[in-house]
Amino acid sequence: MSAPGFVAACTLGELEDDTPKRVEIDGVPVSVVRTEGEVFAINDTCSHANVSLSEGEVEDCQIECWLHGSSFDLRTGKPSGLPATRPVPVYPVKIEGEGADATVLISVTQES
Ligand code: FES
Repeated sequence: MSAPGFVAACTLGELEDDTPKRVEIDGVPVSVVRTEGEVFAINDTCSHANVSLSEGEVEDCQIECWLHGSSFDLRTGKPSGLPATRPVPVYPVKIEGEGADATVLISVTQES
């Protein structure tokens, strides 16, 4: 049984390193990112304007908003620089199973 609140988002095999995947969980747009051997989930909407973060680039555990260039830490959601000043929610991730078929579960009910 999965932990309460956690919803299957995709399989591990569907995630390419450093290539964000946009999913919707309980109506919340989430960008799922596999990088540096871990999987992160961050709200897909930039805190500066209504822009999809999953269309940006991932580097050094940060996702960059393509519109004005603020980067958000995938672990904390905090922006590293202007123009964004507010953090983006990040969500806990669980991996169930092994290898490419493992399920990536995300809970949008608890921000981590
Ligand atoms: S919309 Fe993302 S930094 Fe401006």
